[in-house]
Amino acid sequence: MKASAPGKVILFGEHAVVYGRPALAVPVMQVHADADVAATTRSGVWIEAPDIGLRAELHSLPPDHPLGALIRNLCSTLGIDPFPNLEIKITSSIPVASGLGSGAAVSVALSRALSATLNRPLSDDQVNTFAYEIEKLHHGTPSGIDNTVITYARPVFFIKGRPIQIVSVGRPFTILIADTGIAAPTRESVRDVRRMWGADQARWDAVFDEMGSIARTALESMQSGQWEALGDLMNRNHALLQELTVSSPELDRLVESARGSGAVGAKLSGGGRGGNMIALVSPDTAAAVARRLREAGAKSTIITQVA
Ligand code: MEV
Repeated sequence: MKASAPGKVILFGEHAVVYGRPALAVPVMQVHADADVAATTRSGVWIEAPDIGLRAELHSLPPDHPLGALIRNLCSTLGIDPFPNLEIKITSSIPVASGLGSGAAVSVALSRALSATLNRPLSDDQVNTFAYEIEKLHHGTPSGIDNTVITYARPVFFIKGRPIQIVSVGRPFTILIADTGIAAPTRESVRDVRRMWGADQARWDAVFDEMGSIARTALESMQSGQWEALGDLMNRNHALLQELTVSSPELDRLVESARGSGAVGAKLSGGGRGGNMIALVSPDTAAAVARRLREAGAKSTIITQVA
């Protein structure tokens, strides 16, 4: 059985969402992770993930390996014992450690393909729960926003521990995503932010409150179709992320180039320090802004519509 899951970008509220503030994220269908699971006569559970150079039997993986942990959790929850003989192939067009949710997308695609092959297809809620458990291995203290937006593949307004709110977008709008090409594991920026927060909670709680209030205002703008208003909100959110020290010279350069070449607003997206930034663009300027960003050093760009 095969299954696929999209990438994602966070529009507003990254990092603050780990501390209970709201955030907004949307799926990115142009990139995806794919899992293909099939029964085999060869003994064992064989996992092949060429993008990360992995070819291994399940039992040779360490207990905290995300792929191994997902397969073990899923089989044990479904009461599958002993493990059947399986060939599992995972491929992904989502760059790793770039803020586009590569880890969560692999977890979602694999949960779906594996459970379907075992004749026990999971509901979206179950897939989301499995993927969240694996996010803890990837990130340490994830908010759960990545696995949620990727599982439901719809725009979400997310508050940790609360029921998922799917956002209905009043008027479609266009987002340009540009990759600095710098791999930056979310685990590290989340860990550094936690240290800073621990050292001065009052200061950073105030920053998170402001990010949360930007996300709430952005939700209203998205729902009422006032997408142009999102530009200024992105710029303000980026300034707060800079204060939080999760931007980088490369991200700032792309954000400045986007603003200087016709984008309505721009910010980094995801864990930061590298990875991707996003710019809000009108459909007719998208291609020109993308070209400018590549000239300014972006390794790749994606134009996506939020609808
Ligand atoms: C990662 O896509 C977003 C962060 O807020 C981490 C998280 O929510 O788990 C940085």
